[in-house]
Amino acid sequence: MPPSFSTPYVNALQTFYNTVGKSYNNMTSKVHAGGPERLIAAAGPAISPGSSILDLATGTGKVALLAAQKVGPSGHILGIDISSTFVDIAREEAAKQGVASRVEFLHRDVTRLDLPAEKYAPRWADAVTCGSAIMMFPEPKKMLGVLATEVLKPGGVLVADAWGPVVPAKVFLDVAVPRGFVPTMDPRWLSEADGMFERLFEGTEFDLVRVEREGESEARFDVGTEEKIEALWKSMSVDQTWLNFGLEKLDEGTVLEIKKAWIEELKKYTNDEGSVVAKVGQWIAVAALKE
Ligand SMILES: C[S@@+](CC[C@H](N)C(=O)[O-])C[C@H]1O[C@@H](n2cnc3c(N)ncnc32)[C@H](O)[C@@H]1O
Repeated sequence: MPPSFSTPYVNALQTFYNTVGKSYNNMTSKVHAGGPERLIAAAGPAISPGSSILDLATGTGKVALLAAQKVGPSGHILGIDISSTFVDIAREEAAKQGVASRVEFLHRDVTRLDLPAEKYAPRWADAVTCGSAIMMFPEPKKMLGVLATEVLKPGGVLVADAWGPVVPAKVFLDVAVPRGFVPTMDPRWLSEADGMFERLFEGTEFDLVRVEREGESEARFDVGTEEKIEALWKSMSVDQTWLNFGLEKLDEGTVLEIKKAWIEELKKYTNDEGSVVAKVGQWIAVAALKE
């Protein structure tokens, strides 16, 4: 039995990512290409031979496993995630790459780290990495407080990224929120993540050092036929739990109204070939824990 996490939302996310499982790497390989490498490079010397790193929401371990190469045999990486399927995939991959002795993956919720104290004494990490997940965390400022007091060494570095604009998802929130949908994610994470990072670190124990926009590539969503529109709508309204959690609380009529408005609004972004095309890029935030 997987452990029950902090809220129904986190439990639902866990179910979603367990279902995504092995297809995650394929789904993201094109649009997130080069992202983990840039995230790690942004941390500078905080991730170098001998460093200790916490990778929050590690997923299939993409960032953690690259970091393991960089820190070498004298370094240590801990990756945590709510999805037990992802944790299993990440462990298998660490064994395949021969880095299992320096990487540990644990099934944990970022809001309840609860790390074994004998191994992770307070303030053990040189850096914290977080790829494409910070916008999903309930109470992210509280989480920063935990990183500041329990995880990072003074002056330690936090690097996190967000990808966008994710046009169909952004349009979904644009039309759903005024019609009564209460999102778990601030819609601005999908289109103005630089400003969101600034807000996130305000009044915390961290100084935001910089936010960079990197590696734009083209994301294409085919909306040329009714079937394609239906499939994309299903993805927005049913599959993507990080986006649509809570939609089931609205009545059928309201959901239908949201769907109509979403289709109408999406037309504004659709080209002559029946595709919504967006230049999706990576916003990387680098923050340092105050000394
Ligand atoms: C888009 S994936 C990113 C995975 C990985 N960091 C990467 O860059 O490929 C988001 C990840 O966040 C994890 N996640 C979401 N909320 C979480 C939470 N509260 N605690 C731990 N992991 C969480 C999900 O299980 C999922 O693996």
